[in-house]
Amino acid sequence: MTETAGGGPERRTDRGADGGVDGGVGLTALLVAAARAIETHRHDSLARDVHAEHFVRAAPASADWPVRIQQVPDGDGNPLWGRFARYFGLRTRVLDDFLLRSARAGVRQVVLLGAGLDTRAFRLDWPPGCVVFEIDRAGVLAFKHRVLAGLSAAPGATRVAVPADLRSDWAAALTGAGFDPAAPSAWLAEGLLFYLPGPAETALVETVDRLSAEGSALAFEAKLEKDLLAYRDSAIYTATREQIGIDLLRLFDLGPRPDSAGALTERGWSASMRTPFDFTLRHGRGPLPEPNDALEGNRWVFAHKVRA
Ligand SMILES: C[S@@+](CC[C@H](N)C(=O)[O-])C[C@H]1O[C@@H](n2cnc3c(N)ncnc32)[C@H](O)[C@@H]1O
Repeated sequence: MTETAGGGPERRTDRGADGGVDGGVGLTALLVAAARAIETHRHDSLARDVHAEHFVRAAPASADWPVRIQQVPDGDGNPLWGRFARYFGLRTRVLDDFLLRSARAGVRQVVLLGAGLDTRAFRLDWPPGCVVFEIDRAGVLAFKHRVLAGLSAAPGATRVAVPADLRSDWAAALTGAGFDPAAPSAWLAEGLLFYLPGPAETALVETVDRLSAEGSALAFEAKLEKDLLAYRDSAIYTATREQIGIDLLRLFDLGPRPDSAGALTERGWSASMRTPFDFTLRHGRGPLPEPNDALEGNRWVFAHKVRA
């Protein structure tokens, strides 16, 4: 469905069980939206998303979550709405910059893998002719469409929603929606890969490579830890579990992870790996390392296809 296609089917599919935002992994899209809302209202915000708080308020599961740090009794001392939300704010900014750099370099098609409630099609200053494809499960996209339609929000690029399960073959859905594999593209997997089984991540990276012309770029977030359960008692996982009932470690796939950066370099991509803390230092705000830190193994990978 495209943004210009009108209201679309109004189905009550925003349940976790059938792929919506009210439970399961779909709820994590609301967590990121709440973090972006909080970041938006900070005086020193790294990224602004005026739509984020509307998603939070519209979903029964999150309607009473904070959307400003002032609504959190312990403020920045709260591991979830302070440090973890700031992490998402920093991640949003860094990946905004990545996509805009790609667009300035000439890319005109962007694919958001596991797009969730990402509103980059609306927020960013796209050059004329850009198309943003948003792939997520049908229920998440239906909820997003319903909220944005109520706000009369207008995208700054052509926005194409592509409902698909990224664990199965999604390439035909994307090309069927108008994606052109012969033209360079920018891809983003923000907060996605660790929810997928390892073989599904391997297949996803292979598909991205197959659909990417020379000059394409991909950014993704990975976790390096061998045993994520070692961080079960970390401050951010504990606060996320206890304050809003999201047990991230039950949602992550805990099986072995592929080396996706390595796989890309074998296929003609250059890849650089950064820690979030590198960008905290660059921007002068964001999370810094702490003991028993669930963010310790997080890496942001930036890859460019230098030869097809
Ligand atoms: C943590 S959210 C991140 C959303 C978005 N990238 C952002 O940063 O705002 C994870 C998203 O991945 C989506 N997702 C997880 N597994 C998926 C799958 N198998 N197929 C499609 N989407 C999936 C979820 O529905 C959810 O919207």
